[in-house]
Amino acid sequence: MNILVLNGSPKGENSVTLQTVRYLQELYPGHTYRELHVSQKIRSFEKDFSAAKEALYAADLIVFSYPVYTFLVPAQLHRFIELMKENGVELQGKFATQISTSKHFYDTTAHEFIRQNCEDLGLRYLQGLSADMEDLLKEKGQEEADRFFRHTLWLAGDASVRTPSAGLGRRVAVVADLAEGTEEVSAMIEAFKAACPYTVDVVDLQQFPFAGGCLGCFHCAADGTCVYKDGFDAFLRENIQTADATVYAFAIKDHSMGYRMKLYDDRQFCNGHRTVTMGKPVGYLVSGDLESEPNLRTLIEARAQVGGNYLAGVACSGEGCNEAIEALAKELQYAVETGYAQPANFYGVGGMKIFRDLIYQMQGLMQEDHRFYKEHGFYDDFPQKKKGTILGMYLVGAMMKNKKLSKKIGTNMTKGMLMPYEKVLKKGKKLRK
Ligand SMILES: Cc1cc2nc3c(=O)[nH]c(=O)nc-3n(C[C@H](O)[C@H](O)[C@H](O)COP(=O)(O)O)c2cc1C
Repeated sequence: MNILVLNGSPKGENSVTLQTVRYLQELYPGHTYRELHVSQKIRSFEKDFSAAKEALYAADLIVFSYPVYTFLVPAQLHRFIELMKENGVELQGKFATQISTSKHFYDTTAHEFIRQNCEDLGLRYLQGLSADMEDLLKEKGQEEADRFFRHTLWLAGDASVRTPSAGLGRRVAVVADLAEGTEEVSAMIEAFKAACPYTVDVVDLQQFPFAGGCLGCFHCAADGTCVYKDGFDAFLRENIQTADATVYAFAIKDHSMGYRMKLYDDRQFCNGHRTVTMGKPVGYLVSGDLESEPNLRTLIEARAQVGGNYLAGVACSGEGCNEAIEALAKELQYAVETGYAQPANFYGVGGMKIFRDLIYQMQGLMQEDHRFYKEHGFYDDFPQKKKGTILGMYLVGAMMKNKKLSKKIGTNMTKGMLMPYEKVLKKGKKLRK
């Protein structure tokens, strides 16, 4: 496969993000890789776009590699995308994805920007990787990058990555709101059942004997039980938590998922701030025009992120519905069989930090949550614990303040930041697939 990397970091070769691309290049050498330093050389692309056009046309897969800059991508990459459009490049049918590094502060808006522009350009967009700028230095981050790229190659139809076969005894729980007039939702569930190789159990929330909505009484926080005795807690544990994946099915109502689904979410407070299906993939079957419901789309993504679930896909009614349902079933199978997950983005990282601070303060009351958070290392990144990093930054700050030293350092600082990556790239070469 011809892979074109559009390096959007103004630092060019010294980009931290580019190290992830180069690591993947070492891991998967069976492809042709070409890099364009589009941000660093933006002036020359403004003068003459022909080399970029030729590279874009030769590519099967285009990878936008960039740092998140202030909610979006660097202005230079922004400009390059303008140039792609101004120069009328015809990229219909080619695949595109993105790799970014950042501290996850509004990486979501940056990724959505690239996705939307890929769609404008007729590219077949594949979900990207948003990594923390230090991820590649850790084993977990290297694995995440590897899994992301393998998944991308699989989606792009690369023959070296096979569809994992469906394991026996797997089960998907479909949590549905089958209110009156939702025949379309039922039809979508039937189509999903036909496409999915696993046992599919459907729970209609209209039929569940909810005694009522969450009362906010905090009874559950103290002793772990709900004041309602309608069996919801046991239902969650026995039916939902034991499934290999969950699919939510509903018709859009009042710009949301409808009252019943909201009841289902609120009542999970009986489990505190511990997510019931952490690590398992989720999908959605939605009847209605989700494209024109940006708030609901954000909610769906954030819900998966905060729940620690991989969002395997959202199939909507209308044109291309059956294909989307089949793609969702295939993607769920891939995720269940390979344990595919992605690093958390702004919604997941930011949401977790807010809850983490809250639970820490409320540990006396939310004892189960506190234990769970400790066990899962959610407190490990309290900034005040990182004394070495803080001290190191004082040292760098003092050096940069010194005019003579700062002049001497020049661009060596960005180069120096790459030193730890050399080892990682060597490791990639040894692990080649
Ligand atoms: C001008 C500027 C804006 C930035 N804005 C953000 C931001 O909005 N969110 C974030 O998480 N990181 C932000 N960062 C941090 C970079 O995304 C991060 O350092 C990245 O890993 C650098 O990658 P590179 O070496 O490939 O350029 C910003 C950095 C700069 C210099």
